[in-house]
Amino acid sequence: MRMYDIIAAKRDGGKLTKEQIDFFIGGYTRGEIPDYQMSALAMAIYLRGMDAEETAWLTAAMAASGDMADLSGIEGVKGDKHSTGGVGDKTTLIVAPIAASCGVKIAKMSGRGLGHTGGTLDKLESIPGCSVSLTEQQFIRQVNDIGIAVIGQTGDLAPADKKLYALRDVTATVSSLPLIASSIMSKKLAGGADCILLDVKTGSGAFMKTLEDSIALAKAMVEIGEHNGRHTAALITDMDTPLGCAVGNSLEVIEAAETLKGGGPDDLWQVCRALAANLLSLCGKGTLDECEAMADEARSSGRAFETLCRMVRAQGGDDGFLRDTSRFVKAPCRREVRCGADGFLTATDTEKIGLAAVALGAGRETKESSVDPAAGLHVLKKAGDKVRSGDVLAVLYAADEAKLDAAEEVYRGALTVSQEPPAPVKRIFARVDRGGVTML
Ligand code: URA
Repeated sequence: MRMYDIIAAKRDGGKLTKEQIDFFIGGYTRGEIPDYQMSALAMAIYLRGMDAEETAWLTAAMAASGDMADLSGIEGVKGDKHSTGGVGDKTTLIVAPIAASCGVKIAKMSGRGLGHTGGTLDKLESIPGCSVSLTEQQFIRQVNDIGIAVIGQTGDLAPADKKLYALRDVTATVSSLPLIASSIMSKKLAGGADCILLDVKTGSGAFMKTLEDSIALAKAMVEIGEHNGRHTAALITDMDTPLGCAVGNSLEVIEAAETLKGGGPDDLWQVCRALAANLLSLCGKGTLDECEAMADEARSSGRAFETLCRMVRAQGGDDGFLRDTSRFVKAPCRREVRCGADGFLTATDTEKIGLAAVALGAGRETKESSVDPAAGLHVLKKAGDKVRSGDVLAVLYAADEAKLDAAEEVYRGALTVSQEPPAPVKRIFARVDRGGVTML
């Protein structure tokens, strides 16, 4: 078999065979196929696409390219929740403890911030002492003992995806539906959960900017999961405006803790409640209505909050910071961004808001840079809100004034104020499962 023929077949719009896909994924992972040939194939896939069967084979080959997590030592149903990435998306810190406190085992490997989007590991590490590195044995023991562990990747999970993603990043081939779907799902399959709930974000702060593309991505990923024996569903949720108010690592931990204690912004709770109910239902805990009631009870009883505290303690963190969130260190510099006109905040470019948070120090400018746990912002006015001149639109937090200057400029560039009231904002658009798409 020759890589040249595989590239030519896809360039001409042909369907690749399972053997061809296994050949190039194996060869590329072992370093036998050079980057220039893999780049050409990635571009051919980008332009010609792949059908559902090819995408499933590609995903399975990437999942099998390295270690596959063995969760057989964990009793009960293992559930996972994955977000395609957003701004202010602290849902894992809320949904995972709710699911665990209702009897689903959460053995979760999360990621770090990427570009304008935040990452759960950076958020957890903003809690003093909290570690996200456990050995496989510690990980399994913790999940068996308290029902939940959220850590960084252990072992060499889906190395083919790691190499291919880095290549796509520099060859303008990231935004290809089969390549995104297989990339995400290869890591989920290798992660070992029985049931996978996907939170596919849509809008200006998401990978997929339109509802149509987000539904197509969700359908592709649900199909891959089901094809590989994992019970999989997806919710399509809004990322045209940040989720909740807080953007930045410790700021988001504080908001998540307050939400589990019964407070927090309503939009955040509505999305988390839907995600938790869908995850519980997917894991066989009841109908969606029953699972919504379970999620409500896990929150109002304080059980889900205690589960988060136990997880943080088990991972070396001081849960006293979650109980009294005023203990988190605050950034030394603070600035209010005020509105210059009366009207309606009709749109916010959420990717730019994420980039403003990065400029404040909450994310990484390069892969090597470190994050400032206290940096970030509070969004006080969101798309759809009426605003008056002088209103505080957001509060920015950083280590120095230069960062505030840079971030304020980016933040202002993200806002559109006009006289016409905008259409009401929706936060949950659709549910996708093996039965099809349900618009909500
Ligand atoms: N996230 C991933 O893991 N892979 C992609 O291709 C896009 C988003």
